[in-house]
Amino acid sequence: MRAVVVVGTQWGDEGKGKVTDYLAEQADMIVRYQGGANAGHTVVFKGQEYKLHLVPSGIFHPGKICVLAGGMVIDPVELCGELDELEKQGHDIAGLRVSYTAHLVLPYHKLLDGAEEVQRGANKIGTTQRGIGPAYVDKYARTGLRIVDLFDEAGLREKLKGLIDAKNRVLECVYGVKPISMNEVMSGLQRAAVRLKPFVCDASRLINEYIDAGRKVLLEGAQGTMLDIDHGTYPYVTASNPTAGGACTGSGIGPTKIKSVVGVVKAYSTRVGDGPLLTELKDETGVFIRERGHEYGATTGRPRRVGWLDLVIVKYASRVNGLTSLALTKLDTLAGLETVKVCIAYKKGSERLSDISFNLGEYGEYEPCYVEMKGWDESITVARSYDELPKEVREYIRLIENVTGTQVSLVSVGRDRGSTFALADVFA
Ligand code: GDP
Ligand code: IMO
Ligand code: MG
Repeated sequence: MRAVVVVGTQWGDEGKGKVTDYLAEQADMIVRYQGGANAGHTVVFKGQEYKLHLVPSGIFHPGKICVLAGGMVIDPVELCGELDELEKQGHDIAGLRVSYTAHLVLPYHKLLDGAEEVQRGANKIGTTQRGIGPAYVDKYARTGLRIVDLFDEAGLREKLKGLIDAKNRVLECVYGVKPISMNEVMSGLQRAAVRLKPFVCDASRLINEYIDAGRKVLLEGAQGTMLDIDHGTYPYVTASNPTAGGACTGSGIGPTKIKSVVGVVKAYSTRVGDGPLLTELKDETGVFIRERGHEYGATTGRPRRVGWLDLVIVKYASRVNGLTSLALTKLDTLAGLETVKVCIAYKKGSERLSDISFNLGEYGEYEPCYVEMKGWDESITVARSYDELPKEVREYIRLIENVTGTQVSLVSVGRDRGSTFALADVFA
């Protein structure tokens, strides 16, 4: 059976973790295909909240295979910490698999991430400082190290020697940052190699075998469409391809193996980090939504910028991902507002625009064109079917479907796993 992809349609934090956990119940395998510990995916069940950074959000369903595929960049020490934490909480991690070809995030990548941000000054990206950009830079410069390198200690030392020398020169001479030693890097890697050894595999082969055997595979994107290195608001983006095409290259499957692409849409917009957010609310409504929706970064704890839902963005995401349906989250967060606004186009002077601009400088002249709708009340949190949703919410959903030309297949009205319901079967 062909695979299902879950992608973020906005700026990340749409609720991909929750949606993946919900769909994982039906799946046999859950795969993270890009990004690294810049992601923070929250799953809530049985009164407990879990934040995952590297491990796929299927890990809480015992017996499923959870793959960290080759398109990821993995800090092996951080991965071990996440695994220790999961085991301490009593979760079974036997289903974990890690690709030989995933690239390593090393201590110097994190130092460089921090130093480069300082140098950007007012033009900073607002990265998560997890070393993601510098690790992908090394991958494409062909100076990266991969999971497979962990298992050849002599070769690893040899490669690291040259790399650490070169990185230290940049750290010291360009950025004035204290250099790092071989021992600091090696001791963490040696321990991680022993811990991770039982999990490493040819992930592409395993994923293709599952698909070919008719099993259900779920590919979990991190970040979101507008943070995509090719399709996002460059340079205010991450360094990988969260969009659906990245699911193929990142997991090592062909495009013919994808069945459907579910775009996760938060009922409003948030963005953590810098870059344009046209519908941003800097008033008390923004504060209300941030507090109500606990809009603080799952990885960095930073307050997320908040704005009204921007359907120009979601329509764009539908195009670049080839979305087959939408999973709509956090409708309950807007409950209690007398009216809600949805951006359906932009205007520049008297000109009306129905698509995004690639010239970020232009956004200064853009204004959102809003549709204002009646709000809804708290009764939404107990709804478990479309018919149980307040009339105003059904109208909100219809507007989203009409403007984006994409149907809603999943609705989420609360944090808990149970407060989710399907309008269509994405695996069917
Ligand atoms: P991700 O990065 O896309 O997985 O999203 P995050 O986990 O970073 O952020 C989403 C936040 O919203 C988390 O705190 C989730 O627990 C929460 N969440 C997800 N869906 C819903 C929902 O429908 N209602 C409410 N109230 N919270 C939700
Ligand atoms: P999840 O998977 C929200 C943002 C950072 C910054 C930009 C580049 O939880 O949705 P990076 O550290 O990747 O070089 O930072 O991307 N960013 C995210 N924002 N959710 C995420 O992941 C993010 N991962 C990176 O804030 O603006
Ligand atoms: Mg997140």
